[in-house]
Amino acid sequence: MKSVILYGSRYGSARRYAQELSKQTDIPAVSYQEAPPLSKLETIVYIGALYAGGVLGLTKTLRRQSFGEHQRLVIVTVGLADPDILQNRENIRNALQKQIPAQLYGRAAVFHLRGAIDYQALSLGHRTMMALLHRSLQKKSAEEWNEEDRALMETYGKRADFADFASLRPIVNEIQGDTE
Ligand SMILES: Cc1cc2nc3c(=O)[nH]c(=O)nc-3n(C[C@H](O)[C@H](O)[C@H](O)COP(=O)(O)O)c2cc1C
Repeated sequence: MKSVILYGSRYGSARRYAQELSKQTDIPAVSYQEAPPLSKLETIVYIGALYAGGVLGLTKTLRRQSFGEHQRLVIVTVGLADPDILQNRENIRNALQKQIPAQLYGRAAVFHLRGAIDYQALSLGHRTMMALLHRSLQKKSAEEWNEEDRALMETYGKRADFADFASLRPIVNEIQGDTE
């Protein structure tokens, strides 16, 4: 195996993106919990869902990993907030920089995808977290919400799916561009 796509997914949207990317690039996709040793791989793509700003499984996967000069790291976040909005991208990137060493962040190609949520499928813990957030936002006026808050309020309690495989295109280009 020369390259791998790892995914951190709780409810399936990051996994579905990883599997589609695998189909388009012929790179195997596995959960971060089954990650092979990374030191010999050329390209490591990490597709992780955002939970309270953090990318699921990323810190654990990259901990104690040192990357050689020849290795490539591509990090893809999957979240509810629209990554076409600059404020959302900045928030995600600021949180990401706190999650992984600066040396790794500096050399990673970073992309953002939009995922899905189905409140009926959420665990009790996640439903409670969202209910607390929702309640605290309700106490504020809508003008005080940032773009992430707005996305949460608009989808609260519902089933929403913003996943779009067409948004994988720049990631495929990134992966294939350098390996040709
Ligand atoms: C408890 C909780 C916290 C979340 N936090 C964020 C967040 O900080 N930013 C974001 O964009 N989306 C957030 N989301 C939305 C998820 O990232 C989104 O549903 C994603 O598609 C889930 O991926 P998965 O299906 O692969 O687990 C959160 C969802 C839950 C349930």
